Amino acid sequence: MAEKYSRATLTRNFLKTITRIKNPDEMLADAGKAGLEKTLGVWDLIILGVGAIIGSGIFAIVGIAAAGGDSSLGAGPALMISMVIAAIACIFSALCYSEFATMIPVAGGAYTYTFATLGEFAAWMVGWVLMLEYAIGFIAVACAWSNHLVQFLSGFERFLPAWLANPPVWLVNDPFSAAKIVSANPDIFVPKLFGVPICINLPAILIVLLITAILVKGTKDSAKMAGIMVFVKLAVIALFVIAGAFYVRPENWTPFAPNGVEGIFAGAFIIFFAYIGFDALATAAEECKNPQKDLPVGIIGSLIVTTIVYVLVALILTGMQDTSSAVPAGFLKAPMAYCMMTIAHQNWAAGLISIGSLAGLTSVLLVLEMAATRILYAMSRDHFISKRFQKIHPKFKTPALLTWTVGLLAVVGILTLNLDVAAELCNYGTFTSFIIVCVAVLILRKTDPDRPRPFKVPFSPVVPSLGIITCGGLMVYKSMQPSSSALLFPVWLGVGAMIYLLYGFVKNRLNENKIHNEKVHSKKQELLK
Ligand code: ALA
Repeated sequence: MAEKYSRATLTRNFLKTITRIKNPDEMLADAGKAGLEKTLGVWDLIILGVGAIIGSGIFAIVGIAAAGGDSSLGAGPALMISMVIAAIACIFSALCYSEFATMIPVAGGAYTYTFATLGEFAAWMVGWVLMLEYAIGFIAVACAWSNHLVQFLSGFERFLPAWLANPPVWLVNDPFSAAKIVSANPDIFVPKLFGVPICINLPAILIVLLITAILVKGTKDSAKMAGIMVFVKLAVIALFVIAGAFYVRPENWTPFAPNGVEGIFAGAFIIFFAYIGFDALATAAEECKNPQKDLPVGIIGSLIVTTIVYVLVALILTGMQDTSSAVPAGFLKAPMAYCMMTIAHQNWAAGLISIGSLAGLTSVLLVLEMAATRILYAMSRDHFISKRFQKIHPKFKTPALLTWTVGLLAVVGILTLNLDVAAELCNYGTFTSFIIVCVAVLILRKTDPDRPRPFKVPFSPVVPSLGIITCGGLMVYKSMQPSSSALLFPVWLGVGAMIYLLYGFVKNRLNENKIHNEKVHSKKQELLK
């Protein structure tokens, strides 16, 4: 009986410990001590938001969303509807992000909000899942950047040396993509070490190191850089829409939805990737000059701007290229540049679009890496990872060691990961964090109703519930299709739970003991006086 009782007590204590929440006031106090510079205004936020959102989604993936791919149906001209569906799912979550970001404007985004509502273990798991979104997404976009650079250089075949215009496969691909290319063309040379093919995606590695160095130098500089990139990519998208309008053939818009509702939803699932990034703004809350007012405008504003841009691109793309039947491979890889080159025969415009896509991907990279480091920074503050990572660079006022660690881990990822699977896992991470933030809004409204909320999600609990249903629906839709990411996601969760039990849990208890001992010691000292 006694044994049973103690086992029950232990279990109860364990559950109580892992659901220990961190009071938002404690988070705000911690953030006050941190010393991150407050430099971001509303325009910096909209620029960072648009910079984070518009990238490989609209410059590359949009082709598959419209015309279909190996394992998914295309939406056809109804892609505009798919885009609006994906945007609506994001807006529900964006409203919830805004409520939290203004209530608890500290680094960490969804991770921080989970700690305030669902407790220690759930917070660690969300932080772990967010690494799929930001760190793995960072690696995937770096490799897409490399592909676009190679494509851009190949356009200068007549002017550049051969090694630059057509670089060796093993120097511009990850091992898995290189293996696919070699299996189609066995004559291609790939060096081997003890029988293992060696592939070094050099452009991806160099861009990751460059972005890391920029981020270490300072957030304000990164926002300025992102500003230039955002201007360039919006300018080339405007060029595409205006110039492309002259080559639209309205008959391409019928049939409007060649694969019916199923195609529209498949398109919405795929194009969701194009919206990832707005939530990254919440992770920079601690560096905002006026988070209460500026963050909701920044988050929702950037989402509205990108939705308008995306719908216009979809309208012109599907008007230029018939997407109701099989499309050429070039359209699937880089649809805008393809349409300008092959349909409009405007090579200069295609070249400019390639430059715009490189700029677009660069700004996405900046924001994704910044978000990954800010989440890890908050996790280090909460004793989940080493305290050393909290060190702020004395001159640049950024978490330099942490940023370089993320950059170097990304290089390891580029050398070893299968990027198709990585991109899908990135979507899983995003869906999960969106759902958790919607749930967390509902919980904190109940557990802490009096906390000042400078921005409140309208029509709660309807809007957060719709966020859970739309994001959850898209996630379930994907899980029902056979794919390795659907299997790997639970594995990722399992590994995360193990790391928590073996490290984060232990570190947090040691820290609690330390605080307790310090309190006892100082009380003793007082009594002795
Ligand atoms: N939304 C970002 C992109 O499309 C991740 O590249």
